[in-house]
Amino acid sequence: MPIENNVGYSKESSTKQEGLRAMLAYQIGVCKYITKRYNTKYVYIDTNAGPGYVPKSHLDGSPIIFIKMAEHIGISYNAYCIEKTKKNVTLLEQYIGNQRIAHGNCYIYRGNNEMILPQVCNQIKDGSYGLVYHDQTKVPNFKMLQTMFNDYRFRHIDCLIRVPATAIKRVRSRYTEKETLVEELEKINKTHWTIRKLNPSDRWQWTFLFGTNWKDVKNYKSKGFYRIDSEIGKNILKYANLTAKEKAIYKKSGQQTLEMVL
Ligand SMILES: C[S@@+](CC[C@H](N)C(=O)[O-])C[C@H]1O[C@@H](n2cnc3c(N)ncnc32)[C@H](O)[C@@H]1O
Repeated sequence: MPIENNVGYSKESSTKQEGLRAMLAYQIGVCKYITKRYNTKYVYIDTNAGPGYVPKSHLDGSPIIFIKMAEHIGISYNAYCIEKTKKNVTLLEQYIGNQRIAHGNCYIYRGNNEMILPQVCNQIKDGSYGLVYHDQTKVPNFKMLQTMFNDYRFRHIDCLIRVPATAIKRVRSRYTEKETLVEELEKINKTHWTIRKLNPSDRWQWTFLFGTNWKDVKNYKSKGFYRIDSEIGKNILKYANLTAKEKAIYKKSGQQTLEMVL
């Protein structure tokens, strides 16, 4: 995958931005009524904000997609954008400076998300509604998310993780003690997960995983998102989780592993 200023981009980028936009439309739409009723602000945390656009394209970057959607829906919000690459921070500041921001505040932090996220969390009110978006280019920092969501204060903040399933499996085949995608998700304190269908021609098996404690979260079939307790969602997750070797062993033995009984 080509990389510019630490931002990876590929032919998957447009489906990725489309998936993010769709999930934000759905989730912000639901949160709008709750935040209005309790007179609170929606919280958006972008742990890998990037420069505000996808390199070599006209596609908006994640903070801009969020701002446009939140403004369109008319929700009141605080957006916290974390980015470690200086050039990207400068570009994002220029970019966000050009946006009309009527309903919210946007804060940009330069630094490592592992260090900055706890600082941002200190500013968030107990019981806030919102979303953490984690889009790291490489293998996600699951530990960072596990730590954050162990805190009960963030029970209503959902998480959306961009996952290259193949990369996780490659690391696992080199370091056998490394955990599977499913094992990592199990340690994030969210009760319901939704996965996006894979593109068969994408060898990195890029997907989204959306975690929430909201039991009524729906499949979003038109955009390819399925609950992992649905038949389709379960199969996507199995496929993303297991290496070819593991799938073959499973088929042969008929044994049920943790992954298989999800
Ligand atoms: C795939 S790009 C993000 C793109 C962005 N989410 C978007 O959709 O436009 C990954 C970004 O994460 C940043 N990054 C990588 N590791 C980071 C870390 N530990 N802390 C903060 N930012 C990081 C990179 O500099 C890069 O800008």
